[in-house]
This record gives sequence, C-alpha cells and structure tokens, in this order.
Amino acid sequence: MCGIFAYLNYNVNKERRYIIEVLFNGLRRLEYRGYDSAGISIDDSSSSQQDHINLSPLVFRQEGNIDSLVKSVYEEVAETELNLEASFVVHAGIAHTRWATHGEPSPRNSHPQSSGVDNEFLVVHNGVVTNFEVLKETLVRHGFTFESETDTEVIPKLAKYVFDKTKEGEGYQDVPFSQIVIEVMRHLEGAYALVFKSRHYPNELIACKRGSPLLLGVKDLTTNVNNKASSHNTEFPTKNIQSKEFFFSSDAHAIVEHTKKYLVIEDGEVVHLKEGAVSILKFDYDKAKNNVGLTRPASVQRALSVLEMEVEQINKGSYEHYMQKEIHEQPESLRTTMRGRLIRGGFCKAKSVLLGGLKDHLKTIRRSRRIVCIGCGTSYNAALAARPLLEELSGIPVTLEIASDLLDRQGPIYREDTAVFVSQSGETADTLHALQYALDNGALCVGITNTVGSAIARNTHCGIHINAGCEIGVASTKAYTSQIVVMAMLALAVGDDTISSQLRREAIIDGLFDLPNKVKEVLKLDQEMKDLAEQLMAEQSLLVFGRGYNFATALEGALKVKEVALTHSEGILAGEMKHGPLALVDENLSIFVIATHDACFRLVLFSKQQSVIQQLHARKGRLIVMCSKGESSLVCPGVSVRVIEVPQVEDCLQPVINIIPLQLLAYHLTVLRGLNVDQPRNLAKSVTTQ
Ligand code: F6R
Repeated sequence: MCGIFAYLNYNVNKERRYIIEVLFNGLRRLEYRGYDSAGISIDDSSSSQQDHINLSPLVFRQEGNIDSLVKSVYEEVAETELNLEASFVVHAGIAHTRWATHGEPSPRNSHPQSSGVDNEFLVVHNGVVTNFEVLKETLVRHGFTFESETDTEVIPKLAKYVFDKTKEGEGYQDVPFSQIVIEVMRHLEGAYALVFKSRHYPNELIACKRGSPLLLGVKDLTTNVNNKASSHNTEFPTKNIQSKEFFFSSDAHAIVEHTKKYLVIEDGEVVHLKEGAVSILKFDYDKAKNNVGLTRPASVQRALSVLEMEVEQINKGSYEHYMQKEIHEQPESLRTTMRGRLIRGGFCKAKSVLLGGLKDHLKTIRRSRRIVCIGCGTSYNAALAARPLLEELSGIPVTLEIASDLLDRQGPIYREDTAVFVSQSGETADTLHALQYALDNGALCVGITNTVGSAIARNTHCGIHINAGCEIGVASTKAYTSQIVVMAMLALAVGDDTISSQLRREAIIDGLFDLPNKVKEVLKLDQEMKDLAEQLMAEQSLLVFGRGYNFATALEGALKVKEVALTHSEGILAGEMKHGPLALVDENLSIFVIATHDACFRLVLFSKQQSVIQQLHARKGRLIVMCSKGESSLVCPGVSVRVIEVPQVEDCLQPVINIIPLQLLAYHLTVLRGLNVDQPRNLAKSVTTQ
C-alpha cells in the first residue's frame, strides 16, 4: 500500500549517482507495497554551490514499477547532462512507490507530489487523506491549481499556503520546518505517513505519521580522528567528526542493509532531521483541533532499538521468486515460530506450551464469554483453520470476523470477550480499525502478527509473534502456516488446565515437534504440482472443496490461485455442494477435493468427503483429489482421478500440510502463464488504507 523511502547524508560526501541508487534500492525493497508507479526527488546542485537555495529540487516520476523509473531517470539524466558525479556533503532525497487509491497510475498521479512549479514543498505519502476534497476546494479558492487526481496533492499545496502566510507574518527564517508541517497536520484527516522535502529548508527532512507505518533508521559514522601529531603528543586532542546517514522507510526491509538502529515512529510524532540531529515533537490531534494558528507540541526523547533482521532474509537467495522461496522456507519458518515455546515434558512433567506474551492474560482469556478472531484475507483463513481446535481445547465459543465486515455492521463486542487479531503485517487498516473498535468496547485484545513493533503488536494488550521471518511475496504463504501453528499453540495454552484433554494436547504437541519434517516431505511434491499446473494451465476456473479443518484450506488454496495465477477459483465448503455449487459441475470443470484422513473420532468427515467425490464424479467433474499417503484406493474406489498424496498429521495440523501443494500449484500456474508471481496485478502487501 505505497512505500515511502528517504535518505539524508550528513557530513559525509556522497555522489549524486550513489544517492540515486540508495533511493532506488530502498524502493526496490518496498516495491511489494505497490508497483503502479514510482518517483524520487533529489537536489539540483550540491550544497557547496552558492545558489543551492534558489534551485528547485528535481523530481522524477514514472508509471510502472521501479525498473521503469530507473530507466526513465537515467534517460533523463543523460538528456539533461545532469552530473552524476556531483558530490554532496549533505543531501536530502525522498522516494515513493505507489499503489493507486485516488487517480489512475500515471506520472502526474505519482509521488513526490508538489506544491507547484518550483517544487517548493514536496511530499511522499502512504495512506488516504479523507478530507482532501474540502481542502482542495479551499486551496483552489486561494488560487492554487491542481495537476493530479490524488488526495496527496493537497498536502504540499497546504504546506506552501501555510509557509506563505507565515512568511507574511513572522518572516519564515524564524519558523522551523516542523512548524509548517504541524500546521498542515492539523488540517489533515484520514491516515498517513508523510515525508516532506522543501526548497526553503534545504538539507532537512520531516516525517510524520498517523495510522500508516513509518520507521527511522540511523547510521552513525561519527569517528574520533586523531590529529597526526596526537598519537605522540597529548596536547592535540582527538576530534569528533560527526557524520551520519538517516533513512525513513515504510518498513524495516529497506533499512536493514544500511543500519540496524531504528525507531518506530508513533502516531502524532513529527521527526525533524536537521544538521545531523533528530528532534521529535509530539502532536496531539485532539488538542490541536481546537486551536487556531500555529501550535507548538512538546518535544519527546525516544531511544533507538536494534533490528532483529538479517539482510539475507530479504534476498531471494537461490530462488527465482520470493513466493517460491517463502513456500520452500516453511520447514524453517515453522521451526522458528515454535522455537522455545514447546516444552517436551519428561519425568512427572507434562508436555506443554509456553507463550511468554500471554502469561499474564491466560486466566482472563479462560474466563472470557467468547473468543472472537478477526483478520482479513489469508489471516482470516488461518483463524478459520484454527477455530475447531480453539473451540475444542478452550471450551469457549469461538466466532470469526472479517475485519471490514465487523466494522460495517458494528457487530457486538463485549468486555467479556477476548478479541484475537491475526495479521502478517500488523498494519492492515481494516484490522487496525477493528482493533480500535474492540478496545473501545473493552474487550481483551490479543495480537498475532509477524511484524515486531507493528501497530497491531503495539496496540493490543498482549500477543504472540508469528516469527515466520520477513514475508515479501505479496501472496502470503509461510505466514499463513505459522499463523495456524501460533493459534494451535494458543489453543493448547488456553486449554492447559483441562485434565480431560491432556492426552489430546500431548499428541498435538508431538505433532508440532514433527511438523517441519512433514512439511519438508510434502514440499517434495513440487514437480508433481508443476505437472498438474501444466495440465490446468488453460483452465478458466478451479473449484476447491474442503470441510472441517480443511474448509480453510479450500478458501486459502482458491485465494492463492486467484490472486497470483489470475484464474477464477472458489473455495467451497463441501457440505454446501448440493445447495448450489453442484450446478456448475460438468466435464469442463476442474475440481480439487481435499479428502485427507481426519483423526479417528472425526472419521465421519472422511466418509462424507468420499461421498462428495462420488457425486462430483457422477456429474463428470474433472477431479483432482488430495488424500493421505497410501489412501488413494480408499478415498475414491472405482473412480479414476488424479490423486495427490500428502503425509498425514494430527487432524488440527493437517491444514498446514494440505495448503502447501496448493501454494505450489498457484506458484507454478503463475510462472507457466508468464505472470508476475511476486507482484500480482492490482494488489499490494500491507493494505494500509480502508
Ligand atoms: C493474500 C494476502 C492477503 C492478506 C490480507 C491481510 O495472500 O496476503 O489476503 O492476508 O491483506 O494482511 P495482513 O495479514 O498483513 O493483515
């Protein structure tokens, strides 16, 4: 949902070519957040030149992905003979990759958006300004003309308006850049992360946010330089050469290759980079709304944190695509998810689960009247897969909510509820709003996210990190399986005080220990799924039937196929087959039926799936059946169908195994069709707008 990146080098000589490449690389790391168009802004002259302040910053914008931008920038540079070797001791550059919300993808709708011809104020934005129409009308009345169809354009124009007004009054030399930005913030409604660059404040950058994520990375290059003579003569003290590099980014992926020192910018914070220093002001929206004129928020001190991420995690390694890498990483990502959380037990000690982030809240969860799990897309499907176990082990009614639907209905949430928020990014706008809604209604809020420091992780009362590692492919794969495992561990922890389910819990814990090995085994189906993809390549539609634990697998498998392979696909609850979907079935329709063996006490589900297969076969549907290893003759006796055999695990963990062949199928279908696997059409990871 749009990626923001900015780079400021202070007191360290960098050539223009280097600065441009840092910006491009930052955008490449953020490209999965949106790839409709992209842009950068850099300075026209080096800071050593006298006329620096009088030159407008340069802006390059291009429709399409980052590669298109890179190409167009270098073409323009060659045409205009812009000196790539020009050196900058200080330079502030901003960059943006866009997922279009208002206005089609085109250069004029790309960011940076500008205050006007001279680029006095430039802004990159992630989010949506909901009151932009009112602001636009006002600015038009004040003589501003608009070039784009974006909501963002009001922001730099408003900055110019405020700046001009301030100049008339106080003389702008006395007004810090941050004050202009704060006045702009006072007028904005909606969600945003913003970085401002201005011709009037060269070598400075300001970032601020409300709702959308933004991080600051700091690389301190300060060195103690001894005067040559000083090694022998203590009269020459060491000199501190202060030089730094600063980065603003929508997420940590774009920062980690430069520095591990970072800060998650909080809502309302205004981060000002000037002369090698970071100053942070806290803007109080409620107070500011009632004020007129410029407001001066309090300054705050924040400590930098250390990123727990390695550069290797965000590279493709030997894989061709991130989605492929992330599918094949699942044995390891699941191990990381479970690391330190499963207790093997032993003499007089039961096997159990340890979830540090929940330990003070387990009693409250056990006492809740209902557990309501909330998420979107794949994260919702993970909650659906885990629901039966959560119900079984907790004995508490478990309901599921798609975040946007809960908000649309303003569905009931009570103080006696535990609300569990499932989100890979931890930043999804619908899920975040649903979280605010649940907090307002007094529920205990638990976060299950893959992003440490994300808004959902920070704003819930307690939670469990998924720890699946960075997921960059837009289609979620490894986060999904880790989410299911986390929710299984949640169920085990909540049900830990029930003696009657002790054996069941122990069997599941054993199953969890062995799960990565079983995932490794199922990944060996890669070639078989590629063959199947070749067979299905020309299909217009694929239905996926599942039930019980694997209704979620049907929905998630269909979601993968539709979002990356751009093939119509529908996940269907097998029990609903006769209530409508059967009408679609004929000899032209391919149908994937999940019929793996459930644990003994649910044998009945398996036999129901056998009957579904018979009925679909009778209607001549082209069946592909997924069954447990060695059961192909049992699952569809007398029926000649293509069978995919997968290892059998504990019933509640079977969705982790069963989704993998479908992930592989979606991946291979996409590659065979020549489509972009990691950046499916019209989509973006981290949906930070509603
Ligand atoms: C599909 C997919 C999306 C996300 C959804 C929620 O592959 O990735 O459906 O699952 O946008 O995102 P998170 O989990 O970040 O809240």
